[in-house]
Amino acid sequence: MQWRKGRDLRELFLAYFEEKNSVRYPSFSLIPEDPTILFTIAGMVPFKPFFLGIRRPEVLRATTSQKCIRTNDIDNVGRTARHHTFFEMLGNFSFGDYFKKEIIPWSWEFLTERVGLDPNRLYATIYLDDDEAFHFWHTSVGLSKDRIVRLGEDDNFWAVGPVGPCGPCSEIIYDQGPEFSCGRPDCAVGCSCDRYLEIWNLVFMQFNRNEAGELIPLPKQNIDTGMGLERLSSVVQRVKSDFETDLFKPLIDKACAISGTSYGATPRGDLAVRVISDHVRALAFMIADGILPANEGRGYVLRRLLRRAVRFGRLLGVDRPFLLDLLPTVMELMADPYGELLANRATIESVISLEEQKFGRTLEQGSILLETEVRSRKARGETALPGGVAFELYDTYGFPFELTQEICSEQGVSVDEGEFREEMRKQKERARAASKQLASTLSGTLYTELSETLGSTVFDGYDRTEATSEVKALVIEGAAVTSVEEGDVVEVVLARTPFYGERGGQVGDRGVLEGPSGRIVVEDTVIAAGTLTVHRGRVVSGTVSVGDSVTARIDVERRTAIRRHHTATHLLHEALIRVLGEHVRQAGSLVSPELLRFDFTHFAPVTLRELERVERIVNAQILENEDLRVAHTTLDEAKKQGAKALFDEKYGEEVRVISIPGFSTELCGGVHVDATGDIGFFKILREEGIGAGVRRITAVAGMPAVEQALDTARVVSELELRLGGDPDQFVAKVEALQDEVKHLQKALAEERLRVHLARVESLVAARRDVAGISVVTGLFRNVDDQLLRSVGDRIKAALSPVLVVFAGVTEEKVLFVAMADDAAVQKGVHAGNVVRDISRIAGGGGGGRAQTAQAGGKDPAKAEEALAAVQAVVEKLVSGK
Ligand code: SER
Repeated sequence: MQWRKGRDLRELFLAYFEEKNSVRYPSFSLIPEDPTILFTIAGMVPFKPFFLGIRRPEVLRATTSQKCIRTNDIDNVGRTARHHTFFEMLGNFSFGDYFKKEIIPWSWEFLTERVGLDPNRLYATIYLDDDEAFHFWHTSVGLSKDRIVRLGEDDNFWAVGPVGPCGPCSEIIYDQGPEFSCGRPDCAVGCSCDRYLEIWNLVFMQFNRNEAGELIPLPKQNIDTGMGLERLSSVVQRVKSDFETDLFKPLIDKACAISGTSYGATPRGDLAVRVISDHVRALAFMIADGILPANEGRGYVLRRLLRRAVRFGRLLGVDRPFLLDLLPTVMELMADPYGELLANRATIESVISLEEQKFGRTLEQGSILLETEVRSRKARGETALPGGVAFELYDTYGFPFELTQEICSEQGVSVDEGEFREEMRKQKERARAASKQLASTLSGTLYTELSETLGSTVFDGYDRTEATSEVKALVIEGAAVTSVEEGDVVEVVLARTPFYGERGGQVGDRGVLEGPSGRIVVEDTVIAAGTLTVHRGRVVSGTVSVGDSVTARIDVERRTAIRRHHTATHLLHEALIRVLGEHVRQAGSLVSPELLRFDFTHFAPVTLRELERVERIVNAQILENEDLRVAHTTLDEAKKQGAKALFDEKYGEEVRVISIPGFSTELCGGVHVDATGDIGFFKILREEGIGAGVRRITAVAGMPAVEQALDTARVVSELELRLGGDPDQFVAKVEALQDEVKHLQKALAEERLRVHLARVESLVAARRDVAGISVVTGLFRNVDDQLLRSVGDRIKAALSPVLVVFAGVTEEKVLFVAMADDAAVQKGVHAGNVVRDISRIAGGGGGGRAQTAQAGGKDPAKAEEALAAVQAVVEKLVSGK
């Protein structure tokens, strides 16, 4: 099997399925269109509506390398060879087109003929009663019966979630060999250890599981396959874990350099650099897709990953911000094909930098508290820190447990880990109970009852920002109470309110409720039971009781920013229709003070030119400064006027219509500016695909748009300083520089090769004759495997039968490359066995085929000794034949 780079495997896969008439899509966003999941967890997610048959596919065959994030097992990431948060899934999809008969032989052909995996190492698993899959594996592919293993639902039935498209699947397993086995006597196909590695999952999407858990056959039979690029690369590159592939290794090396460790030196150090390498990729991609740190949802995952990476850095003694130092390596590895990384580089840098600094301060505070606590306990003669204290630090300061352990052990104090884990478990339970309660209270009986007694909350906020109103209900943890006091986290229902409850994509308002004897800060506003506006917040002083008259005041500045973004969304919607066509329909939106997001149907990426046209139209309309008109009318009448409406939205008899005279009319309950000029300025930040046939535009208006323009201007000025000349010339200049770098790299590689080829003659002269075979060995410093192979090729061309074994050493490690020609192999030489044996001397391992092989070693000082052993190994091999 040929050694291939990760990026080449990605291309090989996509090109293969293009050959099979599939359309290649760029990866869709990590933020899915599907609201039931936080992240895109598989290649099929963006195609879900096609599988379900609720949207008509524009193509019948597709292929992608999809950015994915999985967060179900974060704590395991770094501890195993295979767990990741961010990974790339190679996938191909058939929407009612090809099925088992085609995909089974294709997958086999791809793996064995294109990639070159040894067929004797491959197995297939199938679902218990899937005789059809068995038939194609056995008859079309020719896989023997003992290599087709039937497994149950856990292994061979795949579903995107508890509800949704699903079906039986067939997994292709690669046997990595006994050295990867867990050693259990029953280790076989299906074992979760690393020996029988699942490399490709072929899902036969045939069902939709409904809320009741029933499997309803889908209108068509579909194919969804997924293969982890990192995993495939590890097999092809013959390394022990994904982290040693070329997709990760430069990051691992960088993390080692930052922390002064070397990979392979200690398990603790290895764990830390793996965590850091995994998480920094995830951070860059998440931020590039528009995720920002937050205390819930996706933003919380981002925050958690950043903190986990920082804290593993600390464990290695890195106590300065370091994540940004890894970013250039992420860019080098991934910016092609994921251009969004470069496009959002400035944002990625500033978000990581701010968040890392913030967490650094938290850690400092926590350390001081912990050290004081430990000291006072020691003074009292105690030698253990209760798990509860460690938990409190974790819970209040985000102070990681491992760090607590570390600081305590420096002081000779132990920490009760069992107790800590128990507290964690309890907290998780509380959180689960709370979120269940929250979900159920908003739609559940309490608010339904309140809504029956109180009727609807009157919304006063279209034309005012402040109102006096009566407190109608107070709720704490899902139970109605009559009064609340300082410190309480509460939900408040008023008779009328200027606060907008989150709906129709527009986020809820924030502000304060001022009562005669207390004050509540409102952090969010939502709608419950369809009719009640619920203010969520905290009592910051005094008490508030049902019946109190309060002044409800919204955060006006925030509201103004929301209004600008909301009206800008309407302008954008109409501009998109004008530029792209009448097929454009709104598929979702988010209107917040920081930005707007608009999802819409369109089947191709929107080009830069089209985006510019859209921006021009929107900004021209802003400059028109038209007054907005708001009208209440019947749904029929509104439709007659050509008002845009969401097709799956339910509207009442009377509807609210927002018109921008001469431009657009749309049904909408949200808050808007008075005249378009109030928006100030509009700028698109990003355009991306989030599902098949659905695009997303993220844009800013008002001050955030001004800030964006200033940021860009700053970058341009900096480039002016560095590149000189006219900004119009920047692209050409950068291209010229890139060409030059490529050229220089090539020249450098050639020069290096020339220098090393000069050694060919002396290496050949110093050959030894072992049983009629010329054995040539040599030691090289600071070269890569490519160069070693090129020099080896020259020697192979000059001698026969021949075995070449080279060691390439750096300060930290040694790489052995062995090459034998066919004549030597016939005499019993096996390059794989040679490197396997000699690399052990240098503290490493590896192997390969008889003709070519490579292996690593951790001890460069032993390289000479290992080379000296070649002769004996060859003698043994030849005599054993
Ligand atoms: N959806 C399947 C998986 O994630 C195959 O793509 O394994």
